Amino acid sequence: MTIAIGCDHGGVELKQELIKHLEERGITCTDVGCHTAESCDYPIYSKKVTDLVLDGSCELGILICGTGIGMSIAANKVKGIRAALCSDCFSAEATREHNNANVLCMGARVLGAGLACKIADIFIDTPFSNDERHVRRVGLIE
Ligand code: RB5
Repeated sequence: MTIAIGCDHGGVELKQELIKHLEERGITCTDVGCHTAESCDYPIYSKKVTDLVLDGSCELGILICGTGIGMSIAANKVKGIRAALCSDCFSAEATREHNNANVLCMGARVLGAGLACKIADIFIDTPFSNDERHVRRVGLIE
């Protein structure tokens, strides 16, 4: 599996922790940046990740900023993207099962690396339920 991962300056350290963790699991990470703590604009990195998810180069995306909120707002502007801001394991599982979310957003100023890695694992490992009601609701969004 290949995951697109991006962040702004607030998320650089957490992104590195996530990449290390996911690569140890055998998951390939396409890192679109940013790569330094110099202030930058999160919508640029959101777009890079959503492009890779939409063109099929990556199956899922992960976006990290200070809160995760700006990244989720930006990603959800893109048709075909269902970005979920998660700070807990239950939501990460439910948003894959119910919403077929294809981008996970997290806040580096909200979560420690241990919980963020656990949330990413659950998000990646949980399939869409394919239940008729959830297929219908996702279809209505699209
Ligand atoms: C950057 O200071 C901060 O605004 C950004 O990382 C993010 O939290 C925005 O939603």
